[in-house]
Amino acid sequence: MSETAKIELDGKTYEFPVVVGTENEKAIDISKLRDTTGYVTLDTGYKNTGATKSAITFLDGELGILHYRGYPIEQLAEKATFIEVAYLLIYGKLPTQSELNDFSNSITKHTLVHEDMKQFFEAYPAKAHPMGVLSSMVCSLSTFYPESLDPNRSPEAKDLTIHRLLAKLPTLAAWSYKNAMRHPFMYPKNNLDYCSNFMYMMFGMPTEDYTVDPVIVDALNKLLILHADHEQNCSTSTVRIVGSSQANLYATISAGISALWGPLHGGANQAVIEMLEQIHNDGGDVDKWVAKAKDKEDSFRLMGFGHRVYKNFDPRATIIKKACDDVLEKLGINDPMLEIAKKLEKVALEDDYFKARNLYPNVDFYSGIIYKALKIPTEMFTVMFAIGRLPGWIAQWKEMTENNEPIGRPRQIYTGETPRDYVEISKR
Ligand code: ACO
Repeated sequence: MSETAKIELDGKTYEFPVVVGTENEKAIDISKLRDTTGYVTLDTGYKNTGATKSAITFLDGELGILHYRGYPIEQLAEKATFIEVAYLLIYGKLPTQSELNDFSNSITKHTLVHEDMKQFFEAYPAKAHPMGVLSSMVCSLSTFYPESLDPNRSPEAKDLTIHRLLAKLPTLAAWSYKNAMRHPFMYPKNNLDYCSNFMYMMFGMPTEDYTVDPVIVDALNKLLILHADHEQNCSTSTVRIVGSSQANLYATISAGISALWGPLHGGANQAVIEMLEQIHNDGGDVDKWVAKAKDKEDSFRLMGFGHRVYKNFDPRATIIKKACDDVLEKLGINDPMLEIAKKLEKVALEDDYFKARNLYPNVDFYSGIIYKALKIPTEMFTVMFAIGRLPGWIAQWKEMTENNEPIGRPRQIYTGETPRDYVEISKR
């Protein structure tokens, strides 16, 4: 017999079905709550609200578990490539060799962006933040592919848009950097894999040969895999909400990029490095900054600490911390920021304030140090996150459209004025 939840309101009892996921996650299905009782639920910040059923990513914040389509993140980060993981997230299964070849070839074929788009780049000031450029450029892609405006045209058309977007995002990202440097744009080289091609477009110059260090390619694959999906976070929920209005995929992903930009979300990786540099330049007194983070009168927070769902440890942070040590050692880099990061982590983890609030380093605490080692400029860190998160956003959008989910439209509790009469301006 299936479980139900009983809610007592105004002396009456109402029953609502309990939904149980494959990993035994439980929810009360209140979709009929308003119709039957006249009440809505109130959950600012959606801390307890399941907005959808999804078969893509499972995470358990208490146990520090993260699975993509059932596969543990630890195994994927160690053994898979980013493109393989992208296929897994979007199509729901690990690809065979020939499926992977077809997928990679299709992406490779679409890496060029329309020549006219170069003019858009040139109009941006050199100081433009690359996230602003990226979000606008991704939305602009919709103007070059008008057939994509109907997101449900056919499965083939949908796939073409997905492949185009996966192919062009690294090109647009690298060009936003080149534009900021006022360096010539590097066209994609289609004999290179996804990560190598991105590094080539970022750091290659027409005047010299550029070969990508396999240590860098390996680190980049890992970083992108770790960021590839994280169920219903702020940017992914944005993608699902925007997509639910049947806006096209380019506009939808552009909205996700904007949501990711904020320092409380993907922008945290840039904020972490800036914080470490600030502590370093201030003499490296870690205790002083931990005290500031604890002081409620002070707006300073330890960036890269805390997570809405991980309340024990972030499994991605564990993998990335090790990767960080490996990369720095292999590249022979001695970064004082890493020393400060380690000190900060130690002090905070032993501090009652952080222990009581379950505040642990999250994925972004160490990712910035690796990006820095790969010579990625600080302002590009969140762009790197966006490249990593793209397959997740696409998979979530695809799932939502295939399940014909209704338009997202939360309710509210109105707390404003009750009706009153308009007052002429002369009498106010
Ligand atoms: N430094 C100091 N105190 C913190 C921090 C922090 N980084 N994070 C949370 N706290 C404190 C809060 O002040 C609050 O204390 P209180 O209970 O005494 O009022 C308590 O811990 C709970 O914090 P909330 O902000 O309510 O937690 P929430 O789940 O809403 O926020 C968030 C999570 C946004 C990640 C928060 O921990 C934070 O701002 N972290 C720093 C930014 C960051 O690293 N973001 C990246 C997240 S990972 C990602 O998006 C990829």
